[in-house]
This record gives sequence, structure tokens and C-alpha cells, in this order.
Amino acid sequence: MISINENYNKLKASYLFSDIAARVSDYSKKNPDREIIKLGIGDVTRALPPACIDSFHSAVDEMADESSFRGYGPEQGYAFLREKIAENDFCKYGLPITHDEVFISDGAKCDTSNIQEIFSRDITIGIPDPVYPVYVDTNVMAGRTGTSRNSRYDGIVYLESTRENGFVPDIPPEPVDLIYLCFPNNPTGAIATKEQLKQWVDYAHKNRSLILFDAAYECFIRDRSLPRSIFEIEGADEVSIEFRSFSKNAGFTGTRCAFTVVPKKCRAFDKNGNSVPVHQLWLRRQSTKFNGVSYPVQRAAEAVYTSEGKRQVRDLTDYYLKNAELILQKMATLGFLCTGGKNSPYVWIKGDRDSWEFFDLLLEKAGVVCTPGSGFGKCGEQYIRISAFNTYENVQKAMARIEDTLK
Ligand code: MLT
Repeated sequence: MISINENYNKLKASYLFSDIAARVSDYSKKNPDREIIKLGIGDVTRALPPACIDSFHSAVDEMADESSFRGYGPEQGYAFLREKIAENDFCKYGLPITHDEVFISDGAKCDTSNIQEIFSRDITIGIPDPVYPVYVDTNVMAGRTGTSRNSRYDGIVYLESTRENGFVPDIPPEPVDLIYLCFPNNPTGAIATKEQLKQWVDYAHKNRSLILFDAAYECFIRDRSLPRSIFEIEGADEVSIEFRSFSKNAGFTGTRCAFTVVPKKCRAFDKNGNSVPVHQLWLRRQSTKFNGVSYPVQRAAEAVYTSEGKRQVRDLTDYYLKNAELILQKMATLGFLCTGGKNSPYVWIKGDRDSWEFFDLLLEKAGVVCTPGSGFGKCGEQYIRISAFNTYENVQKAMARIEDTLK
């Protein structure tokens, strides 16, 4: 008899964004004439930057010619892209990351999901609440939790992000082995200061823990006093792994390219307490289970680092930031307490009712899709998240409709 991984039975029936998509599709079928504006999942709407498209085209042409054709690439990514990343995203800012510490992948979602498998099943995990659901669900699948009761899994140390702590979780009183952090935060849009990140780095040193730092939204930070990378904190390279993505800066959600930085100094421990470089484990995992990102996609991503690419990415992210500003300003004018929306594409809004009820109201009365906060965890109850990823015209229209619905 083939038995299933029983941990899957502990999960909610479907993934949050699939659940929302199903509800929206159901509503659309019943209301075929209703134009729906999607400000739910953080999926970009603007085309790839022209610099990326040009590189993409030439790389496809190379694949059409035997003299320049490429088969399997290096599992950890081509050196041309890894070098550009190390140089432009880290070395330029004085952060000592070398190209062989950068692993190219097809998404931060996949990497933040997969990374946990290189650690023991018995470790304790600290996960913020609210949180990108992937961090929780993948640990449930791996058997690190008990069952879910009252929207919480036994075995997870929930790091609460609330209005009181400015949506940056406090350091827990107990030691936790693996800590997930995401700044600019999904879903709240909050950003930790350098001082706050330093406390986490110190905690990780003290408790021999490791921080998984999801920086997928760093490209929206305009305030240079805010950290864009955990490696801006001294000593973070011994205790942290950072995840980044081309999805939100260059619009690669459908093209798929991201990267994970695993410094060679970063360590975990074997059962005898000996320090083991995590880099070697991740390299082993990726070379066994992953065949790399396609050559044309990596060439397209490389173009992000040309001078035109940089300017075009800046324009793209400015565009979404302008949307975020509008959402923030409108929702605040309507009397809602909001966070995010500055240095972040997400606005986190404290509603006046249950978050799914708020979601249904906006869908049915305004034809606007948001994300119910409770989908991100217990602390998200009563909140909704509105994403800035759409056209400015649609955001304007959505805000006008929300105003009509709520006033
Ligand atoms: C979100 O809406 O939270 C993100 O788009 C999800 C993702 O990047 O996978």
C-alpha cells in the first residue's frame, strides 16, 4: 500500500492565493459583465523592461544556432549573472558577497520553500504572524508541526507582528533555531530598521540560530537609511541566508528568475555540535534536484544590471510605488489605519469587520479583489492587504469604487 505523507492532511485544503482565485472565478462566472480589478496577489502587470527583452531575444537567437547553442547550464546559475548580482547588489554597497555565494533559481517562493529541507526535522522554527503562507505550509509538509488549532500549528513559535510593535516582531524570550524574516514585509509592508535587524542577528549568534531573510521587495525601498539586505548588519553573513527575486523589480513573475545568497561563512551544526557550512549543503541540494534557469531567462535578468536596465527597473518600481501611495492615501482618508505603502508595494489595512467578510464586500460591491489578512495568519484577522500591482488607472478606479462602497 502506498501511503501518503500524512503531514499534507494537516494543511488547509488549498493554498491562499488558489483559494482567492477560485472565489474570484466563481464570482466572475455568476457576474460575467462585472469588470473586476485585481489588487490581490502581488502579480505585476507591466511588460518586461525593454533592456531585458532585447537580451532575451538575442539569447533565443543564440539557441537557434549550433555554434552558440547551450544545453544544461550550471545548476547554480551562469557566472555572467552571478557576477553582476554580486557586484551590483552587494559589493557596490560594501557588502562582501562573492559571485559563488549567489545561487540563481526560478523563484524566491521555491527557494524559501526548499531551503528548510537541509535542516533537521527536529529544529524549532520561528515564523512571523502575519506571514507569506509558504513558510508555514512547507514546514507543515516537512513534519515540523503538529495539527492546526485555532489558526495556529502546534510546534511553531509565532512571532507576532502587530500595530503595537510596528509590525516588526519582537525577539522571542526562548531560543528558536530557524527564523523567517521578510522586509519590506509581505503582507504588512513594514520595514525593519538596521537596529531591529541587528537584534535578530545578535539573537542568532547567541542561540546558534539561522535567519532566512526574504528580501524579495527590497527594490521598493527608497529611504536609504533602511536596510535592503540583512548583510548590511555586521556578522549577518555567519547566521543568515538572503532571498531575492527579479519578479517584483523587473516583472519576472511569469518569466521566473530569482536568487539566494548563501555566504560561505554561514553555518549550521551537525548532531555533535560541529559547525557545517550551509553553502555546501545548498550546493549539494541544488545540484541534485535543480537543473538551473534557462539561458535566455538568465540573459534577460542580466540586463537588469545594464544602465538602461537599471533606469527601466527604477521606472517600473516607481510606477507601482505611485499606486501604493494612492491606495495608502485613499484608505487613510476613508478613516482606516494603514501601514506599508511607502517603500513597499503593499498596504495593510485594519478593517472594521472579519477579513473574509471585508474581502467579499469589496469583491461583490466594488468588484475589487484584495487579500484577506487572516489568510496570512491569526494576527491578520480584521485586516486586508491591497497590492499596488496594477495599472494606475485601475488603482484609481478601484479606489473610487471602494470609496463609493464604504462611504
Ligand atoms: C503575494 O501576493 O503575496 C505574492 O505575490 C506571492 C508570491 O510572490 O508568491
